[in-house]
Amino acid sequence: MTSTSTSSATADTATRPTQGAYTLAGVGRAYQQKGRTVQALSRVDLEISSGDMVAIQGPTGGGKSTLLQLLGALDRPSAGTIALGGQLLSQLGDRALGEIRGSQIGFVFQHFNLIPTLTALENVETALVPLRLDAEERRRRASETLASVGLGERGGHLPGELSGGQQQRVAIARAIVKRPAVLLADEPTGNLDEETRDEIMDLLEGLWREQGLTLVIVTHDSAVARRAQRRLHIKQGTVREVS
Ligand SMILES: Nc1ncnc2c1ncn2[C@@H]1O[C@H](COP(=O)(O)OP(=O)(O)OP(=O)(O)O)[C@@H](O)[C@H]1O
Ligand SMILES: [Mg+2]
Repeated sequence: MTSTSTSSATADTATRPTQGAYTLAGVGRAYQQKGRTVQALSRVDLEISSGDMVAIQGPTGGGKSTLLQLLGALDRPSAGTIALGGQLLSQLGDRALGEIRGSQIGFVFQHFNLIPTLTALENVETALVPLRLDAEERRRRASETLASVGLGERGGHLPGELSGGQQQRVAIARAIVKRPAVLLADEPTGNLDEETRDEIMDLLEGLWREQGLTLVIVTHDSAVARRAQRRLHIKQGTVREVS
């Protein structure tokens, strides 16, 4: 049984060896604000292999969220190129970027960002809408994923009826239900106590291991960063490797 699941996981990974791999070359991102230019990132050269777990730390305003938005196809660089799985994100139009976000990239945020008027199950289902599945299949996959993050019994609850840790589990289920190649998390444990933080990190690390995800986590918490295979530090828009 174990060997079967191992070999199928290997086969799955082998068919998409570069799907979650990033190559950034000379990436810069400047924002224009009130006639001033803010250089949020400059000359970033970075390779992230498919299946890597990377933590990004650094002082506030250093450019962490800016980098995550570029990796997440939410934004384009003002200089340089970004490729994901061999596709040049920096050259794609809004529609193509939207399709890549919808199918290949999951996001988790510090403030959970659940829709307050939808139940936990409905929140997870929203991520499947772009895949145009029928309603029954959508519900089935969402329930299965919610159960896999330990919330099988909570599907009917509204976000306001769940604890912070439970809300973050719903947000993680929503991020992974479409089986993305990449999971990007911006301070996913920033609003949680230490015990819940560790539970959420156990969950993320387990998903990373089982699903061969590329996992990138921005964090101010060294206990979170220490769990990653690889650590990057961003300060004043410049990225360096932490050994
Ligand atoms: N939309 C924007 N317009 C103008 N400037 C921006 C915009 N977004 C970010 N910046 C600026 O770019 C720089 C980097 O911001 P970013 O949000 O990436 O920092 P961060 O490392 O994520 O910080 P924090 O730890 O506080 O979340 C900051 O100087 C910020 O003010
Ligand atoms: Mg930020």
